[in-house]
Amino acid sequence: MTKPSEQTKPQLSQDELKTLVGRAALRFVVPGQIIGVGSGSTVNKFIEALASMKDQIKGVVSASEASTARLKAIGIPVFDANAVEELAVYIDGADEIDQHGHMIKGGGAALTREKIVAAQSRQFVCIVDASKLVQTLGQYPVPVEVIPMAVQRLTRQFAAMGGRAQVRCPAGGSGQPLVTDNGQLLLDVSGLRISDPLAFEAQVSQWPGVVTVGVFAFQKAQVCLLATADGVKTLNF
Ligand code: 5RP
Repeated sequence: MTKPSEQTKPQLSQDELKTLVGRAALRFVVPGQIIGVGSGSTVNKFIEALASMKDQIKGVVSASEASTARLKAIGIPVFDANAVEELAVYIDGADEIDQHGHMIKGGGAALTREKIVAAQSRQFVCIVDASKLVQTLGQYPVPVEVIPMAVQRLTRQFAAMGGRAQVRCPAGGSGQPLVTDNGQLLLDVSGLRISDPLAFEAQVSQWPGVVTVGVFAFQKAQVCLLATADGVKTLNF
């Protein structure tokens, strides 16, 4: 007979893990306040959960047109970032996060507005499933929002540091480049191993033509809610 400890745990799908962590983030929502909301499929789960608290908050500042549409659809007021001085908390996902709270973000193309909203927030709460936790950033291609006329020069600059930059095109699209909410292009840079995220972010951010680099080391997470098969773990940085 199988002992209880030997029974195999039901495996949660990645979608179920995202639902779990989206709900867990509700405990960071400060009643009576305006909160920052990021973008992506994990954040979509958070937005679904936030519907249950919508009468307890004043509203949100949103980091993407896609999140704004979802928030408005459930009746949550969305404020312009310029109308709000400081946010108590910003809740967003990530493509990778390391043991210090440094992240790669921008898989959903919203990195520039995400960095802006994160910068005006006192606390960044990152919500991810366990597959996103890494030792060293860089296995996920680094998204970089760029001004179109700088694409070729920036591609060469990344090549000089060992990276391979490709202009992002929507999957299943016509082959035309993806245009961000800010009217710019995205480079996805693979082949980088980012051992010093602060130095990398500082260096690339000053290259002419770079709007935003998707390494979030200056705007790192203070808390990571990590969805695992054993439940949601809290990492503090
Ligand atoms: C969007 C982002 C997202 O937070 C990141 O891509 C993670 O997305 P998902 O929750 O869908 O895995 O940075 O620009």
